[in-house]
Amino acid sequence: MSEALLSTHSLSLSFGGVRAVDDVSFEVMPGEVFSIIGPNGAGKTSLFNLISRLYDADSGDIVFDGQKISDIPAHRIAELGIARTFQNTELFEHETVLRNMLIGRHVHSRTNLFSELLFLPSVARQELAFRQVVEDVIDLLDLQSYRDQVIGSLPYGVRKMVEVARALCIQPKLLLLDEPSSGLNPEETEDVSHWIEDVSQDYGATVIMVEHDMSLVARASSRVMAVADGAVVAIGAPQDIQNHPEVRRAYLGD
Ligand SMILES: Nc1ncnc2c1ncn2[C@@H]1O[C@H](COP(=O)(O)OP(=O)(O)OP(=O)(O)O)[C@@H](O)[C@H]1O
Ligand SMILES: [Mg+2]
Repeated sequence: MSEALLSTHSLSLSFGGVRAVDDVSFEVMPGEVFSIIGPNGAGKTSLFNLISRLYDADSGDIVFDGQKISDIPAHRIAELGIARTFQNTELFEHETVLRNMLIGRHVHSRTNLFSELLFLPSVARQELAFRQVVEDVIDLLDLQSYRDQVIGSLPYGVRKMVEVARALCIQPKLLLLDEPSSGLNPEETEDVSHWIEDVSQDYGATVIMVEHDMSLVARASSRVMAVADGAVVAIGAPQDIQNHPEVRRAYLGD
């Protein structure tokens, strides 16, 4: 069996008396589209906040690409190869699509301030290479017609894609998507499954997504983890999870 790209080991996090994440262990293999489902407040976003190091776990470990990352500062997560989008899009409203994507560059910048000031050839080379990365992502997600438009003028579905595009500009091995279909109409939601496939198969990133839309989950995922009250209820193939008695109980609340 191949080595997991990401694994968590008995991960827990409480807020006051609330066990937001309760002894969660799972692993995601390279190339998977792994979905996390569960009722509101189940701890899905908290799990992402732990993996992306915005929160410190109370206990447990996170291993990414063979390295323990539970103690790594959040600003180093991107350079290790983990990118994420947020449940509510966080883009610069008054900037263009292209400018929003270029902002992703800082994390991969290997030059220092001195060489940037002197504009050494290495900086020019790096800038050029990054422009190519951005153009490739624009092609991948079919964003050509929006590249020079200001974010504030775009439909919500396109904004959500720009956030994904920006995340891909750091060339992540692992992409965390927090509710990619929220706020989208059925047609836009259909598009989500297509670009997830492109990100997974053409771009080659492993994807973990938190998602409420079960038909999107069933279409896009290799495996699904259901959580409730911070804890894992079941992990398995999409159809098995949908029909799982305990998962149904967690949703129906009896
Ligand atoms: N920063 C925080 N401070 C206090 N409590 C928090 C914080 N973040 C999350 N919680 C609590 O932790 C629990 C899990 O929240 P979380 O946002 O992870 O759930 P979720 O599964 O993402 O829900 P949703 O589907 O509504 O997005 C909730 O009870 C929530 O109120
Ligand atoms: Mg959430």
